[in-house]
Amino acid sequence: MPIPGWMRASEDKYVRPVTTPRDVPVALLGYGAVGSAVDRHLRRHQGELAAATGLRLRVVHALVRDLTKERAYPALDGVLTTSFERILGDGQVVAVAELMGGIDTSRRYIDLLLGRGKQVATANKQLLATDGHDLLGRVRIGGSVCGAIPLVETLVRGLPPGACTRVSGVVNGTTNFLLARMESGSSRAEALEEARRRRYVERDPTEDLSGADAAAKMAIIATLAFGDPVTLDDVAFEGIDQLDEHAVREAQSRGKALRLVGIATRREVTVKVTELDASHPFALLCDADNAVLLEGTGFRQLLLAGPGAGGEETASAVVADLFELVR
Ligand code: HSE
Repeated sequence: MPIPGWMRASEDKYVRPVTTPRDVPVALLGYGAVGSAVDRHLRRHQGELAAATGLRLRVVHALVRDLTKERAYPALDGVLTTSFERILGDGQVVAVAELMGGIDTSRRYIDLLLGRGKQVATANKQLLATDGHDLLGRVRIGGSVCGAIPLVETLVRGLPPGACTRVSGVVNGTTNFLLARMESGSSRAEALEEARRRRYVERDPTEDLSGADAAAKMAIIATLAFGDPVTLDDVAFEGIDQLDEHAVREAQSRGKALRLVGIATRREVTVKVTELDASHPFALLCDADNAVLLEGTGFRQLLLAGPGAGGEETASAVVADLFELVR
């Protein structure tokens, strides 16, 4: 079957069958910016998703800490729960997306879910970059790097094995947003406030500003690109803690742009503030966009760019993973 959801009708003809969509209950661990956006995407686009796949994914449980918290996009009645056991014990639920962050509890929950035969997707880059390499082949991780950009899929299935020799990129949306906004006249504080309002920033903003978020993503990218496990500890990184609007505009006045750039080769993985020509593709990134340049044998160079942070943007990758898991 060349396209998922299509059926072979004859030797050279494929059709999309018209059927009642199959109902597929799924669950979320976490109902923050990304979790609620996954629920919203599945509900708002239910018709087109069902037409494309014959499946109707429905969030039946979402694990939260506080049932009473005000939420921008409320879940349907009865969906929010504080009981992980309820999700684990629901035999109807075949796939779960872990979107709550943190390391120890997330890891324990993922192991328990896999142990019960459930399919799991996660967007948890810190977990994958510290204690999660053994999960890479067992869970879908499209939401863990570069928001909506299908980078994991490209690295894992889109290139000849072993062909990639170097990956460089802007992989943190918040810092790109800050740098781009400072170039456009905002102060650092104004830009950070706006990034928070748009929900690009991690719960602990130092993860973004110190470069730790970008470093975790580069560790995952290097592991996928080159095959050997790279952890956060292996990445030499810095952030934009020391950069204010004056430094950004001084570079700008010389026809340059400052960007937080990750570079991964088989030898080393780094994340550094880098001065680029203003015409460089990474320098042209606005808002919270990310871009990744893949270099290697045969394909030479591939540039992937697009929305790198935000609930809706990351939900795009998680929804794709959920459909892939349940198909
Ligand atoms: N805080 C992250 C970023 C969110 O700004 O890139 C997406 O991983």
